[in-house]
Amino acid sequence: MTTGRATASAPSNIALIKYWGARDLERVLPSNRSLSMTLERCRSTTTVCFDEDHPGADEVWLVDDHGQSRPASAAFAERAVQHLERLRRWADRRGRLRVATRNSFPSAAGIASSASGFAALTLATVRALGREAETHQLSLLARASGSGSASRSLEGGFVEWPGPAAPEDDPWAEQILPSDHWPLHDLVAIVETGPKAVSSLDGHRACHSSPHFARRLTELPRRLEEVRRGLRERDIERLGPVIEEEAIELHLIAMSSRPAIFYWTPATLEVLAAVRNLRHDAGLPVYATMDAGANVHVLCPPGHDEEADARLEALPGVRNVLRDHCGSGPRFNQDHLL
Ligand code: DP6
Repeated sequence: MTTGRATASAPSNIALIKYWGARDLERVLPSNRSLSMTLERCRSTTTVCFDEDHPGADEVWLVDDHGQSRPASAAFAERAVQHLERLRRWADRRGRLRVATRNSFPSAAGIASSASGFAALTLATVRALGREAETHQLSLLARASGSGSASRSLEGGFVEWPGPAAPEDDPWAEQILPSDHWPLHDLVAIVETGPKAVSSLDGHRACHSSPHFARRLTELPRRLEEVRRGLRERDIERLGPVIEEEAIELHLIAMSSRPAIFYWTPATLEVLAAVRNLRHDAGLPVYATMDAGANVHVLCPPGHDEEADARLEALPGVRNVLRDHCGSGPRFNQDHLL
C-alpha cells in the first residue's frame, strides 16, 4: 500500500510584462514573452494526500481564514481535479488524491489566486505521488493547468516565461534575477473584492480582435529590454514608466476587443491619479501596474513603502492595502491542512 502526503506553499506573482493572448490556448503557448515579480506574502498553501489503494473520487477542500474547511465550489473543484488527473497520468500512478488549500490573502481580496494555487497544487501533488521533478519540469506541469501565470510562480525573484519561437517549443519560466537583487515593494490597493466579471481566459480569446494587438507585439521587445535593464540597474525611473505603459496597454487592448472588456472602476482611476500625484507632488518613486482586474499594484523601492501605504490607505475608494514585496519562491512545509 502506498500513501503520501505533502504540503507546499507557493506565491502569487505580478506581471511587469503581461501574458495577454496565446498562439495556442489549449497548450497554453503565449503570444509573447512575459516577465513577473514573484511575491512573498500573497501565497497559497496546499496539502495533498495520496492513497494508492483507495478507489474513491478525488476531493478538494478550501480552508478559510479561521481554519474551517468546506468543499470547493463545483467549478473550482472541476478545474483542480482535471489538473490532478493530468499529474497522476504524468506520474503514472493510480489512486485517490485529497486536496486542501488555503490562501494567505483574504479570499475576498479580489487578488487572482490561480497562479499561486496551481503552483502549490502542482508541487504538493508531485511530491505526494512520490515523484521528484526539476523546477523547469514543475513550471511546465503548472502551465498545463491552463493558468499560464502559474508557470512563473515556481521561482522566486524576477522571472521570464518565453513566447514560443517555433511551433514545437514548450516554454517554461526561469528566474532572471533573485529576490535579494532588489526587494521591490508591491502595495496592492484593493478597490474591488468580488470575482472579476470576465476571466483572463476570455481576455486571451478576445484580444486578437483588438486593432491594437498586432502593434503591441511589435512594441514588446523594446519594452521588455527596458524592464530588464531597469531591474538589472535597480533604476525605478527607467522601470516605472515602462511598466505603467505596459499595464495601460493591457487594458487598452481589453477595452478595444470585440466584445469590449472593462476591468477598471472609478476607484481604479482614482488610485492611478493618486500615484501620479504622489510622484509629482510628494516626490515618491511609485509606479502602478494592474492585472486583469480593478485593483492596482503600486510598486516602489525599499524605504518608500511606509509613506506610500499611508497615502494609498487614505484614498476614499481604497478598501485596504495588501503590503507585499519581491519574494524567494515556493517551499515545502509541515503545516499540513489534511
Ligand atoms: C493579466 O491565463 O495566467 O494576469 O489563470 O486567471 O491567472 P489566470 O490567468 P492567466 O493570464 C494572466 C493574465 C494577467 C497577466 C499575467 O499575469 O501575465
